[in-house]
Amino acid sequence: MLAPTRRGPDDDSEVAARPGSAGAADLARLVADLPPLSRTLLLPIVARAREDARASAFRDPVAATIVRRLEAVAADDLARARRDRLTAAAVVARAIALDRMVAAAIARRPERPVVNLGAGLDTRRSRLDRRPPDHDADAGPPWFDLDLESACRLREAMLGPAVPGPDMLGLGDGAIVTADVRRPGWDRGLPPGPLLLVAEGLLPFLARGEVDALVADVARHRPGSELVADVVGPVLQVIPRIARVLRGTGVRFAWSCRRASDLERAAATVRVLEEVHAIDVTEAPWGAVRRLRRLPEVRRTLRFVRLGLGPAEDAVASA
Ligand SMILES: C[S@@+](CC[C@H](N)C(=O)[O-])C[C@H]1O[C@@H](n2cnc3c(N)ncnc32)[C@H](O)[C@@H]1O
Repeated sequence: MLAPTRRGPDDDSEVAARPGSAGAADLARLVADLPPLSRTLLLPIVARAREDARASAFRDPVAATIVRRLEAVAADDLARARRDRLTAAAVVARAIALDRMVAAAIARRPERPVVNLGAGLDTRRSRLDRRPPDHDADAGPPWFDLDLESACRLREAMLGPAVPGPDMLGLGDGAIVTADVRRPGWDRGLPPGPLLLVAEGLLPFLARGEVDALVADVARHRPGSELVADVVGPVLQVIPRIARVLRGTGVRFAWSCRRASDLERAAATVRVLEEVHAIDVTEAPWGAVRRLRRLPEVRRTLRFVRLGLGPAEDAVASA
């Protein structure tokens, strides 16, 4: 098995990973060093760990392990994150829907590398990877977890090959890539050709021009790529002002869109191939919110999309 490695956009050579053997003091420093934009990674990992503890169909034992380790070093942040129940329900719906879309996209084009944009402490690979313990580590597409510098450092410390088991995520040939998707050339550390991009909880933090530039650029330079992402409506732009982990941090949702098809304006070859409303993800722990599902603004407010990037003949429409 290859150990996860770190790459930067300006550095094509692989940098040997420090094994994920950080002690509590190191972890505390890494969490404290997260700028507000990257501190947002705490909310989804807490939500998925909490859902793992419920008797629901959604399981994420790796998230639960990570949260147990973080408890000693970021108890206040975790406590704040736990109080955001509605956001947590949305995060679980998002994880369920995107797991399905990503698994189906990999099944259709298993050779295409997966790039998890704004990966934070995401554990999707462990949820999708149901191979038996003696699995072939090279099975499945190459997988890259990309984020900003300080988030990558924390990810490496939490999910490096030595923590807490030899291959907690079944990482195989996975790599951690440091890059800012707002910068031209962000994909320089990745293999050439089409990619399956996943942007979970990322696009709302970008400016409209940055989202358009990202999808248009991939459509032009990497035809045959797809992007699986969550898309928020304007109503949800209040979240950073009300979510306890984000309130007062200056972090905001700069981008929203009313219709998924608004994304097609970025370039002629950007097409919506699939769209799911969060409120229709039945396994999500919605509680009372479900009663609101007929209100158009509620239905519109959180959606999951799969975009084809590049000329139509490269795209595979959903079955
Ligand atoms: C809300 S968290 C989501 C983390 C992860 N996708 C999940 O669902 O658990 C947003 C993540 O996006 C990252 N991020 C924000 N802006 C970014 C950028 N311009 N380039 C790369 N990553 C970015 C943050 O550092 C953070 O880890």
